[in-house]
Amino acid sequence: MGKKVLVVGGGGREHALAWKLAQSPEVKQMFVAPGNAGTLEWNVPIAANDIQGLINFALAEKVDLTVVGPEEPLSLGIVDAFREAGLRIFGPSQRAAQLEGSKAFAKVIMQEAGVPTAQWQTFENPEEAKAYVRQIGAPCVVKADGLAAGKGVIVAMSLDEALRAVDEIMKGAFGDAGKRLVIEEYLEGQEVSLLCFSDGLTAYPMVPVQDHKRALDGDQGLNTGGMGTYSPPPIWAPALEEVVKEQVLYPTLKTMRERGMPFEGVLFLGLMLTLRGPKILEYNVRFGDPETQVVMLRLKTDLFPILWACTEGRLSEQRLEWTDETAVCVVMAAPGYPAAYPKGIPLELPTKVDQGVIFHAGTDLQQGQLVSAGGRVLGVSALGKTLVEARKEAYTLVERISFPGAHYRRDIGIKGL
Ligand code: AMP
Ligand code: GLY
Repeated sequence: MGKKVLVVGGGGREHALAWKLAQSPEVKQMFVAPGNAGTLEWNVPIAANDIQGLINFALAEKVDLTVVGPEEPLSLGIVDAFREAGLRIFGPSQRAAQLEGSKAFAKVIMQEAGVPTAQWQTFENPEEAKAYVRQIGAPCVVKADGLAAGKGVIVAMSLDEALRAVDEIMKGAFGDAGKRLVIEEYLEGQEVSLLCFSDGLTAYPMVPVQDHKRALDGDQGLNTGGMGTYSPPPIWAPALEEVVKEQVLYPTLKTMRERGMPFEGVLFLGLMLTLRGPKILEYNVRFGDPETQVVMLRLKTDLFPILWACTEGRLSEQRLEWTDETAVCVVMAAPGYPAAYPKGIPLELPTKVDQGVIFHAGTDLQQGQLVSAGGRVLGVSALGKTLVEARKEAYTLVERISFPGAHYRRDIGIKGL
């Protein structure tokens, strides 16, 4: 019998997940809560953090599977609450979600699992933190312990900057997230995101992705949630997958099992490819945004049975197939993003798109007019036989969109050429 699936969240990642799941012959009805204008036909007006509201809806509609996009509901315990209500959900428990929710916790797991990572220490006292900063010197990295919407990390290139970062975080620049902080060694190299499906025991990496976190071309400007992605990055040698599985992925999952918090869901490894091999920068406990947009374009297999198998501890029975083509996603953001930006900018999209997919993020439909409703507005995505072709397809599509003042990077994927 066809299944009913609920995707929780309203960004580009959730549009990509719903787009892919809706293609499954096993899915008869999709819901997205709260969704955006790209998922209009499936939207349910319930906020992603309204766990009780989502449970009531899933019970009333007899939803067969819920898939969670953002980190916040996961850290709030949405998975535990759904399971207590007898509902099937794909994602990590609240305890397992600490891998992203607390950087101090993540570092302890990395150490216990023996995975290669930057040297670090955790502090709750600013004077001790500053003494450590003086001891290790610059460059170094200062991180607020808790969730800070991707902004709680300061890569300090000078001692002064590092000392200031300690003060700012401890004085509450990121609220409670900064009551504790982690200070760590600066690692040099290129970053790669490796998202992995996991049922707790078995784990399958998806295809590697390179994100572009800075707002401006040439990796200049402020950090953002991600201005664009491409996959695969040529810097990722195929042999690296085995290395990362053996050195990072499996030991992490084993440690989580031993701690009585098996990790089920997507374990997202933020890796730095250093001259001394891959090292882990961070764990996320969810699909990445905008990593998911390119991963879903490259996934040939039906997504639904993979997620379902994870919830049953039967991922080992699944096979994943990927296209050899390259995928590129260019994020079109509101002018000013990631600082203050206007909303309600009218958008005109081409009515027919043959090549590529325009994933919506912060969009809304107001009196029949498509308008921007967030910082990251669209994820313009395309496949190509080569990176050059995929870039060409994606940017050609960008040019067909009317979005006054749109801010986007022109160099997505250039790193890989
Ligand atoms: P995180 O949220 O911990 O991944 O940090 C956000 C960003 O800060 C990362 O994507 C990196 O670009 C940068 N970063 C974090 N830790 C380090 C490190 N140890 N060395 C260099 N850059 C880092
Ligand atoms: N694009 C990075 C993230 O989703 O955290």
